[in-house]
Amino acid sequence: MFFIYLQKNVVMRIDILTIFPDLLESPFNHSMIKRAIEKGLASIHLHNIRDFSTDKHKSVDDYAFGGAAGMVMMVQPIETAILKLTSERQYDEIIYMTPDATVWNQKEANRLSMAENIIILCGHYKGVDQRIRDQYITKEVSIGDYVLTGGELAAAVLVDSVLRLIPGVLSDETSALTDSHQDGLLSPPVYTRPANYKGWEVPTVLLSGNDKKINEWREEKALELTQKIRPDMIND
Ligand code: ADE
Repeated sequence: MFFIYLQKNVVMRIDILTIFPDLLESPFNHSMIKRAIEKGLASIHLHNIRDFSTDKHKSVDDYAFGGAAGMVMMVQPIETAILKLTSERQYDEIIYMTPDATVWNQKEANRLSMAENIIILCGHYKGVDQRIRDQYITKEVSIGDYVLTGGELAAAVLVDSVLRLIPGVLSDETSALTDSHQDGLLSPPVYTRPANYKGWEVPTVLLSGNDKKINEWREEKALELTQKIRPDMIND
């Protein structure tokens, strides 16, 4: 199966609302995401939710009604931040990172890579007041069935998976097309020089120069691996 990438001429703008912006400085300052930003293909804006609090102590959380354990992130600072951003431009999605959502996948990453402006809200403690979810959130995303201490690392995962799909971000653009999951299968094994290391040999077909045979071998291995490790992907 082939995916056609529509050439976008717009910069993707990502606004992230968090109470720990420092946590996200490093992931966005390295490697591929840094390159995407430097090339002007994307811009990432970190906003500290605390800066939007009208409370004199700059509180962002409070006790849960009903006596449940744990603190809840308050409506006011988050709403003020969202309203400021949405008054400045239109957003395609306002995403909330949370473990109680459907799990992120490559198909979703492909779809979101076409967006122009997105807001990502990172939760902490017991999560955000449900009224924010009801009123403003257009999409809820979990990166897996486990609980992190906050949504920041999950947001970094989402952003990385999306930005690498934007044409021009990866140095070899076709490499995103052959990623695991991109065609619904895991990737076949890869090898580099030397062809023989301590007697561990690279499959001879890969040295044959016969593209047709190499492609057949890759397809066969991808299917074999997926059947063995992720049979659910084939059943899907
Ligand atoms: N916040 C805490 N755990 C998370 C998860 N698994 N996915 C997204 N956001 C989260």
